[in-house]
Amino acid sequence: MEKDDIHIADLRREYSRAKLDEREVADNPFVQFQRWFQQALDSHVLDANAMVLATCGSDAQPSARVVLLKAFDERGMVFYTNYESHKAKDLTENPLAALLFYWKELERQVRIEGRVEKLTTQENEAYFQSRPLESQISAWASPQSQPIEDRAVLKARVEAYRRQFEHTPINCPPFWGGYRLIPHYFEFWQGREQRLHDRIIYQKSADKWVIGRLAP
Ligand SMILES: Cc1cc2nc3c(=O)[nH]c(=O)nc-3n(C[C@H](O)[C@H](O)[C@H](O)COP(=O)(O)O)c2cc1C
Repeated sequence: MEKDDIHIADLRREYSRAKLDEREVADNPFVQFQRWFQQALDSHVLDANAMVLATCGSDAQPSARVVLLKAFDERGMVFYTNYESHKAKDLTENPLAALLFYWKELERQVRIEGRVEKLTTQENEAYFQSRPLESQISAWASPQSQPIEDRAVLKARVEAYRRQFEHTPINCPPFWGGYRLIPHYFEFWQGREQRLHDRIIYQKSADKWVIGRLAP
């Protein structure tokens, strides 16, 4: 690395766009999430539905990657992936996981923790059928998280599946589908001046959401 080129320790900025008050937040965290998500969309945040998914299998090694939120409602947050991937192996061993949204343009972060469940075969098929053909073929062709020799292997697999499904309808691979993360914890973080950020949390207790505030 080049010395003296970058001064990471000096990178900082003030946050002052908005505030978050426990008297103004929604009683239900999904409603609050819907508000913030809509504001992220209205503000043209790029990839507003991109979220970090953190998992931890039985080896206790946390691992994190970006996935796309594809739906949410009071049941939970839905994303799709390969059921034989690294993350899926982790989730089989330990269904507890965390999600993180960072909308830097709005100086906002949302943290969500919960337990995942697999979607049903019917739900997977319905979503799979809504995807563009190229994405459908890629889902079949990519043994996600497995070592592969080179990119040519992937291209050859894509062509093979393209031929296989040329004259037959393409169905959802049995090794591909969605998870719903059922939250028991939400945190809405709004950047504030002098590092005195707002952190409003929702914790589920006896089927009720209890609102609190954490020190920044
Ligand atoms: C913006 C963005 C969106 C992504 N969306 C997904 C997704 O919805 N599902 C998915 O399986 N991987 C998605 N990925 C790729 C994952 O980050 C990751 O590389 C892949 O799922 C393999 O992770 P794993 O080996 O930990 O299972 C996305 C990556 C980026 C940067």
